[in-house]
Amino acid sequence: MSFRSVSREAFVGSITLGVVFVAGYFFGKKKSPTMSITKSHCEKDNPLMQYVLNHSMREHPVLKSLRLRTMEDSWNIMMVACEQSQFMANLARLIKAKKALEIGVYTGYNTLNMALALPDDGVLVACDISEDYTNIGKPFWKEAGVEQKIDLRIQPALKTLDDLLSAGQAETFDFAFIDADKVNYDRYYEKSLQLLRKGGHHFVKYIHIYKSKLVFIQVLWGGKVVNPSPDDEDTVAIDKLNKKLHRDTRVSLSMLTVGDGLTLAIKL
Ligand SMILES: C[S@@+](CC[C@H](N)C(=O)[O-])C[C@H]1O[C@@H](n2cnc3c(N)ncnc32)[C@H](O)[C@@H]1O
Ligand SMILES: *[C@@H]1O[C@H](CO)[C@@H](O)[C@H](O)[C@H]1NC(C)=O
Repeated sequence: MSFRSVSREAFVGSITLGVVFVAGYFFGKKKSPTMSITKSHCEKDNPLMQYVLNHSMREHPVLKSLRLRTMEDSWNIMMVACEQSQFMANLARLIKAKKALEIGVYTGYNTLNMALALPDDGVLVACDISEDYTNIGKPFWKEAGVEQKIDLRIQPALKTLDDLLSAGQAETFDFAFIDADKVNYDRYYEKSLQLLRKGGHHFVKYIHIYKSKLVFIQVLWGGKVVNPSPDDEDTVAIDKLNKKLHRDTRVSLSMLTVGDGLTLAIKL
């Protein structure tokens, strides 16, 4: 799976890379108008957001059912924005991802979206510490017929990442979505980078970005990053990682304002 032959015409669709997505599960409840980027399920009365959803969402019916079920949970604020999840699933298709990592599952909305985007022999290692949350999603994974692609591991994600590394799985993953406890973001980022496969130098001959891997980081945290309170350790951790990424010469990057903010970093 590491290398594929591609045509020049298929340039965009055949970028080979590993992807890390890192997301946040909170956003500021009180936001100033200049910091109004947030998840669509918290933007119900924003007509522009509704227009975007109306004209772009192609949600699998089981995915929709899981979203509606998740909305009944009191912690639904944690769920990934559906438009962001669809974007990441599109990225997974774009890079023809086969082996993926999700750090922070909650009810497994994004887990399901990713599993749907993976090929039949694809695998998604899904990390969470909560049986309660993940049990909400399991029946939906089954209903959608993708449960066999999901390898759910209930234990601290750092332990799972270390297990994967000691099992010799470094440089075998195509992407990772990091969406768990913020204080460990930097460790998740570093370990995910180790787990991502090398960027297919076999076909560098066509397009130089074949050498790259993508990294996604959710970064805006409801705008709180603009002025982090020193005693808010989650915001401080995200702000610190944002600053590190800005200087990180291993990657190039863009900060996208989808959902709660997403940084795309391309591993050079
Ligand atoms: C923001 S939610 C994940 C949302 C999910 N990605 C989605 O698509 O809706 C964060 C999750 O991280 C989990 N979590 C918190 N600390 C963790 C840890 N140390 N290891 C693994 N999971 C953790 C929580 O149980 C929670 O389900
Ligand atoms: C979005 O779709 C809903 C349901 O069809 C409709 O009521 C609403 O007016 C639409 N809004 C926009 C901005 O397109």
